[in-house]
Amino acid sequence: MNIFIAGGTGAIGRFLVPMLVNAGHRVTALTRSPDRTSQLVQMGAVPAVGDVYDEVRLARLIADSEAEVVIHQLTAFGTKTGDPYAETIRVRIDGTRCLIAAAHAARARRFITQSISFVCSPSGSGLTDETSPLYLDASPALRALVEAVASLERQTLEADSMAGTVLRYGWFFGPGTSYDPKDTIPAAIRKGAYPIVGPGAGAYSYIDLRDAAAATIKALSHDTHGIYNIVDDAPVRLSEWLPFAAKLLGAPAPGREDEAAARKRIGDMRVYYLNEQRGASNEKAKRELNWRPVFPVWRAGFEALYSNHSSQLCDAV
Ligand SMILES: NC(=O)c1ccc[n+]([C@@H]2O[C@H](COP(=O)([O-])OP(=O)(O)OC[C@H]3O[C@@H](n4cnc5c(N)ncnc54)[C@H](OP(=O)(O)O)[C@@H]3O)[C@@H](O)[C@H]2O)c1
Repeated sequence: MNIFIAGGTGAIGRFLVPMLVNAGHRVTALTRSPDRTSQLVQMGAVPAVGDVYDEVRLARLIADSEAEVVIHQLTAFGTKTGDPYAETIRVRIDGTRCLIAAAHAARARRFITQSISFVCSPSGSGLTDETSPLYLDASPALRALVEAVASLERQTLEADSMAGTVLRYGWFFGPGTSYDPKDTIPAAIRKGAYPIVGPGAGAYSYIDLRDAAAATIKALSHDTHGIYNIVDDAPVRLSEWLPFAAKLLGAPAPGREDEAAARKRIGDMRVYYLNEQRGASNEKAKRELNWRPVFPVWRAGFEALYSNHSSQLCDAV
């Protein structure tokens, strides 16, 4: 199949592009940076240089690729604007609009989108599933992000003349993510600056990037339309994964922080993740996509990621 992917150089794209190529697809991948085209060529893709907001150019690039399927893996976390979420909110709302318009004009027949499993309402009990409501009544900081996710999902599912599939990935961890041994989360854990907030009841559904990419291929090979949680089998509370990660990293055992104090220090959004979010069920993806995670339990992934890093990285702190 001819596939156009936006976000092929990103966290999941780096795994997904070679898998698509190996599966026999002709892959064209978007990047804003001419410096990254060689990376895409090495992965077997045809590079297409452009910005998702440049609608005229984007439409031409997608039309030239003769894409039957467009895969949207765009996210953009960072602090360029001072607000670390502003750009990812924009890309989820406006970037999605541009991409869908260009895909539609190029007569693509399917549109597959990256979403997240961890912004469902915390009210209720047990795991969330694809019918669980998004947390649209969250406090303002989180609500802006959730509204952007809702827009992304709605635009995908209602895309004109294309079957839309939303893949709600769990928390990515692994090389190149914020859980990378050299990145922010392990750095904070090593400094003792990543406490368990309240009882640490936030339930994390993790996903290995290779499993996330493999599930995307499964979605492609099935006639999907709708939402699928792509998460591992073992949602885990902060109070369990954090001490485990600290031990692997050779860091001090995490301290405790009262929820009200944490809210003042790090804000409502992070307290929601650390102490309130519910884990997600992957039953639908297993049943309908015949997908099984190869890495079903986060624990083995954390061991692989951190085992060899405790001594050398302690030196760097
Ligand atoms: N489910 C999750 O847990 C989850 C989801 C997303 C991200 N994250 C994490 O967040 C961290 C950083 O993520 P990130 O989103 O900043 O980076 P990223 O995942 O590495 O990549 C973002 C991708 O979007 C592309 N992109 C962004 N804006 C674009 C635009 N205007 N036009 C065209 N392409 C655009 C980038 O392409 P170019 O830069 O090549 O142009 C890149 O391919 C990582 O740790 C990642 O794991 C986690």
